[in-house]
This record gives sequence, C-alpha cells and structure tokens, in this order.
Amino acid sequence: MTQTARVAINGYGVIGKRVADAVALQDDMELVGVADVMHDYRIRVAVERGYPVHASTPESRAEMEAARIPVAGTLDDLLSRADVVVDCTPKKVGVQNRPRYAEAGVKSIWQGGEKHEVAGYSFVAQVNYEGAVGRDSARVVSCNTTALSRISHALHRHGWVKRVRAVLLRRGTDPWESHENGMINTVIPETKVPSHQGPDARTVLPDLDITTVAGAGPYNLSHIHFAMIETTRPVSLDELRDALWDAPRVAFVRATDGVVALNSVIELMRDLDRPRGDMWEVAVWEDALAADEREVYLTFQVHNEAIVVPETIDCVRALTGIEPDGAASIEKTDAAMGIAKAFLPATTQPVEHLAGAEVGHPGMGAVRAAHVGFRETGFKGSEEPTDPWSV
Ligand SMILES: NC(=O)c1ccc[n+]([C@@H]2O[C@H](COP(=O)([O-])OP(=O)(O)OC[C@H]3O[C@@H](n4cnc5c(N)ncnc54)[C@H](O)[C@@H]3O)[C@@H](O)[C@H]2O)c1
Repeated sequence: MTQTARVAINGYGVIGKRVADAVALQDDMELVGVADVMHDYRIRVAVERGYPVHASTPESRAEMEAARIPVAGTLDDLLSRADVVVDCTPKKVGVQNRPRYAEAGVKSIWQGGEKHEVAGYSFVAQVNYEGAVGRDSARVVSCNTTALSRISHALHRHGWVKRVRAVLLRRGTDPWESHENGMINTVIPETKVPSHQGPDARTVLPDLDITTVAGAGPYNLSHIHFAMIETTRPVSLDELRDALWDAPRVAFVRATDGVVALNSVIELMRDLDRPRGDMWEVAVWEDALAADEREVYLTFQVHNEAIVVPETIDCVRALTGIEPDGAASIEKTDAAMGIAKAFLPATTQPVEHLAGAEVGHPGMGAVRAAHVGFRETGFKGSEEPTDPWSV
C-alpha cells in the first residue's frame, strides 16, 4: 500500500484542469502530469502551472511541439509513472482508453460522461466510499447525479425517502465554449422521461426510488434542481434542515441574504475567492425548503464544473487504499480545498451564538456549534414571521 498516490490526468478540460489543481493541493498525492490532445491556451496554462504536459496521441505530440509546448512524453510515459489515472476526456472517449490503462497496470477513474459499465462501480464519496477501497477502477458520477445522490442520501439514510421526484434545468453550455454552443430565449425539454440522471442515481443508491425530468436553459452558470421527496412519515422542516446540515458538501444559501438566483451564488463564490468561482458544495436554498405531511420540497444549485472534483480526489484515496475511511478522506479533501458547511459563517448566524467560536473562520465545528446553539433557542424554521438567521 502506497502512502502517496501518484496521479495522472488524461484530458485537461473543464474537469481535468480542476482535478489537477485539487490533486496538487493534497499532501498525500503527487500530480505526476497531465495529458491532452490540444495545443491552445488551455494546455499552455498547465505549462504555466508547472505541470508536466504529455501528448495523448502521436499526432497531438507533433502539434504541441510545433506550438512550442514543452512535451514531457507520451500518455504511456505518464501512465508508467502513475498509480492512478483520472480520465477527464470527453464523453465516450474515456471508455476507449480502458485497454490502454489496463495494459499500463494503473488504476483508473472515469467521469460521469461514461456509463456505469466502464468501471462497474459508480462513486459518490459520502454514499459508497468504502465499496471502492482497493478497486482497480471506478466512475465518479455526473454533476447532476452527484447532487441528487448527496441530497437523497441525506434523507434516505434516515429511512425517510419513499420516492424522489426531481426536475432539473441544466445549463446550456460551459463558459469556455459559450461562443460555439448555447441557446438564447428558450428552454429545451428532454423528451426522454425519466431523464438519465434518475436511473443513474440508482447506480449509487440502488434502492432509491427516483424519477427525474430534465431540460436545458440559456445560461452557463450551473444547473438548478427542484425536488419533491415523498416521505415515509411526516418530516418536519427542522428535521429536514438538520439532515441536510449533517450531510457533507451540502450548504445553505438564502434569498433573504440577497442570494436569489444562480448568478448570485456564483458571484458569492467569486467574492469568497474560490478558484475559478467554483462551488463544490450543493447549494440548497434554505428559505425555499418546505414540508407537509406527505412530502418535503427542495431547490438547489449544482455547479457542474466543480462539484465532482472533491469526489474525484476521494476516489483516488479509495482506489489506492491510502485512506480506507470515507469520512476521513472527505474531511481531508474538504480541508485542503476549503469546502465549507456555511459560506458566510461570521454573519449568517446571530453573533451571540458564535460566542467562543472562531468568528471569521469557516471551521465546520464552530459553525455547527453555532447552529446547534441557535436551534436550542427554539427557532422553528421559515414559518416563523421573522427569520432570526437574517442579520
Ligand atoms: N463539464 C461539465 O459540466 C461536467 C460535469 C461533470 C462531469 N463531466 C464529465 O467529465 C468528462 C470531461 O468533461 P469536460 O466537460 O471536462 O470536457 P472538456 O471538453 O472540457 O475537456 C475534455 C478534454 O479532453 C481532451 N481530449 C479530447 N480527446 C482526447 C483524447 N483522445 N485523449 C486525451 N485528451 C482528449 C480535450 O482536448 C479537452 O481538453 C466527461 O465525461 C463529462 O461528461 C463534465
């Protein structure tokens, strides 16, 4: 068992570049290099960051060299120095690399564009980390499936979920390619019902009853989900809020703080100096939570470019076995990346409940203590006329 995981990234696009930066932050991982087929500004940034750049194909090596990109070697050279490769190539390209990875004898992680069968194990850290420990390969599920799994699991682990129904409105395109793809003044419904995300969530939570319906809209700042979860018994707003609070990588935002839309959430991430404005957590609108005797209702935002990055880091630890305990890995990843339970911990709770806590430092323990202290005052949720969490 190795104590430092040597990690290679194949595909340095939206996901690959973020995974590379996250690997570089971990004290138990070494980024041995990245590989791609393009030679434009995107891979040049990897050179600026000091990441050894490799050519995934012979043709791309010639093009990179012609573009004066220093090429450290081929993909095979890179694989020979790695314990695990994270494939971040486009959908359906990744599966074609499977024989190459097997031949090199490296463990492999694919992303959600590939099917479950590519690895036979679909991964969301807080749901099924332990089952991936020591495996040769796994697939980190898509952004939407990751969010649905985190949220569903937060309730399902209490035995509360009878059936999840969710409506997903996906972003039309990613920012870097908005000049090529995208739409304006429309929303495109998916005609396949259920959309693939519901069945995909069952590759992570096999006994979850879930149906999803999806569409795509004319924006590029993440996805929004509206979920109606039929419960096995009446679940109160307090119980719902606590269950979400207890789930890693789920954080609250509130319209009463001015966080009223997808763009506000991303602006908040930028203001918090998140790299690239990334949000790794699922942002749940706390003031849009609702519950009745049959169902609970949630609205949440999924930053598609970022949410799978911490999952991928945990997956590296699981496959290589450098950390057998999922909770420990999640904690380590979150600390290294700055993943929070509260985005604005110094002001979102009344100051008196932060007494003795590290005001200004988003330490999870401090924020949780504040939350518990607050809840002990008898706050009953957003049905109260004045929300005392507002300052
Ligand atoms: N973009 C998202 O919102 C998002 C979210 C979650 C998961 N994913 C999944 O992550 C994976 C990667 O998606 P992405 O959005 O980062 O794609 P992307 O197009 O941004 O990046 C893919 C990269 O792979 C490179 N590439 C293409 N062919 C290659 C090859 N044969 N060998 C090596 N590199 C090659 C491309 O040049 C590009 O840099 C897909 O499975 C996707 O479904 C994407």
